[in-house]
Amino acid sequence: MAIGVFDSGVGGLSVHRALVQALPDADLIYLADQANQPYGGRPGEEIVTLTRAGCERLFDQGCDLIVLACNTASAIALRRLQQTWLPGYRREQGRALNVLGIIVPTIEKATGLPWEHEAERRGDKVEQLDILGVFSTPGTAASRVYEIEIDKRRQDVAVFSEPCPNLARMIEAGEGQAALKAAVDGHVAALKKRIGRAPDRAILGCTHYEIIADLFRAALPPGTPLIHQPAATAEAIVRYLERHPEYAPGTGGARRFLTTGRAGPQNGLVSSFWGAPLSFDAA
Ligand code: SIN
Repeated sequence: MAIGVFDSGVGGLSVHRALVQALPDADLIYLADQANQPYGGRPGEEIVTLTRAGCERLFDQGCDLIVLACNTASAIALRRLQQTWLPGYRREQGRALNVLGIIVPTIEKATGLPWEHEAERRGDKVEQLDILGVFSTPGTAASRVYEIEIDKRRQDVAVFSEPCPNLARMIEAGEGQAALKAAVDGHVAALKKRIGRAPDRAILGCTHYEIIADLFRAALPPGTPLIHQPAATAEAIVRYLERHPEYAPGTGGARRFLTTGRAGPQNGLVSSFWGAPLSFDAA
């Protein structure tokens, strides 16, 4: 059995990489729905249908546990699939299958608990958190999932979401640094203008943005902590596997990278993020 990692495109590679660091021997299958990318501007029903199709492909490939390494899919499709599709599909397949998202682990990390308590215990200074900035696709921003989930945990934190239309598409297309920097600078400036200052912490609420996290880091004031979703997700998956050993993946360290789009080498931006040329096979 392998753990499946699903994304609309290359952004979930950041989560895949964090999973490899956390679970070096785990068998993993990555599926990019590049035939339908980007998800961020699509109607909700389409996102649900596409995400379900992606999950079915990964379950067919022998995955019992899937991580939706896509914020738009996690925000819009995850709950629907868990409630209305997965129970029946599990019965049909006679297998204990599950799909997990990446938003709750990110929010738990971003809103402090329990790492803030740990830092305080160590005597480290923890900055006050009044305003949290979230950069995401328009779909994720419109779902207000970050606002809703953060409000359940911290009513003292104001959330400002900044939709970044086109940014995931630009990354997927491997656009040059100058164009990406101009886009990121524009989104950071727009968020700061709306808040009237920089946020106290910022979340990259689209896994594609991790590929250009350096540009966000450079555009934000040096003291603004950037919450890294891949690491937060990998930590949560490790904890989940401890509680649910029935989902323990094979330990041969097998890795497959599949795409619904055009098979072959991924763009230079992806290779430099990955540290080596990376090629996807046809799903
Ligand atoms: C996109 O396909 O628009 C990006 C998906 C995401 O939210 O991570």
